Amino acid sequence: MLVIPLILAAGSLSTLVFGAPVPSTHSSRNTAASIHSLVERSADSYTVYGGNGDVSEGWPSQSSWVSSFDTLFNNNKAIMQSSCSQWNVPNDSASEINDIYNGIKTVASETGIDARFILAIMMQESNGCVRAPTTNWGVRNPGLMQDHNGAATCNENGVQNPCPTSTITQMIRDGAAGTSSGDGLKQCLAQAGTTDVSMYYKAARIYNSGSIVAGGNLGGGVATHCYASDVANRLTGWVFATHSCSEASIGSMTGTTASGGNDNTGTPSSTTTTTTGGNASPANTVGSASPSAQKAPGASASCKGWYTVQSGDYCAIVEQKFGITMAQLMGWNTQLSGDCSNLWLGYSYCVSA
Ligand SMILES: *[C@@H]1O[C@H](CO)[C@@H](O)[C@H](O)[C@H]1NC(C)=O
Repeated sequence: MLVIPLILAAGSLSTLVFGAPVPSTHSSRNTAASIHSLVERSADSYTVYGGNGDVSEGWPSQSSWVSSFDTLFNNNKAIMQSSCSQWNVPNDSASEINDIYNGIKTVASETGIDARFILAIMMQESNGCVRAPTTNWGVRNPGLMQDHNGAATCNENGVQNPCPTSTITQMIRDGAAGTSSGDGLKQCLAQAGTTDVSMYYKAARIYNSGSIVAGGNLGGGVATHCYASDVANRLTGWVFATHSCSEASIGSMTGTTASGGNDNTGTPSSTTTTTTGGNASPANTVGSASPSAQKAPGASASCKGWYTVQSGDYCAIVEQKFGITMAQLMGWNTQLSGDCSNLWLGYSYCVSA
């Protein structure tokens, strides 16, 4: 299975209309086509999780996952829209992304697997590119889920564009339900041997490398060492923030300490978790001294730095751009709703006060 570097291009979100609120994702809409633009504010940050996947070792509880599949899906859509470019094949179309959305929902209901987990694994494996090529490091791993020798693919012996709806669903099904030649997430979850949230992190490890090393460290073994940590982060809202997991050291981290022996980053990591702020780009600017557009309602009267929301923005992105927290953004712009469903394009918001 492969791991793809995170794609950072936040494309423009076509549904943003000048001056109009970004639609909420908390409605009961049920197709990707109608839930376009995000925006539960979820913490887009990366925390390094070492150890065995247990909450007692610092791994996230299920209640800290992004609460709805729709929100998690929308948060990852900007990646899906551009991820195929890394293989020089056409990007996913809106209708292919809609097919992914429906495919995950269908397969989640067929298998009983949490749709968010299927999505997180898919993002980890292919960044959601429907034309992800087949890899083969001993086992043929095709498609969206880089599954175990499944038949469905839109990039083998030629690229299919568009990728058919049935193929998209089948790629997801092959990864989640397994194939005649190998395990899928369902079998990996069973092999995890636990019933609490750690089963997901353990299953992620098993899906990536077939087993968990003796001792249970999910960063250990012959594997993409950061895989389980990455999946845990995807489930809790990581999209664009800097990936701060070190392949070299994650396997030696345990519940409370890291044996920093082979930590070639030189970072003395002495605790289970370290968090990087969601500050992927060279940010920490303070905004402009005066608003360049109409002020958003509720913006702080004593605001020192302003930012005008652009196409493609959502709260987590604005927070990243300025290195501020969700609480700060909400505090300085009091009309923003708690789920950030009303960030207005073309209005100036306070980003420093
Ligand atoms: C895919 O999207 C990315 C980001 O928007 C863009 O740079 C790239 O040119 C696109 N690729 C294709 C083949 O359209």
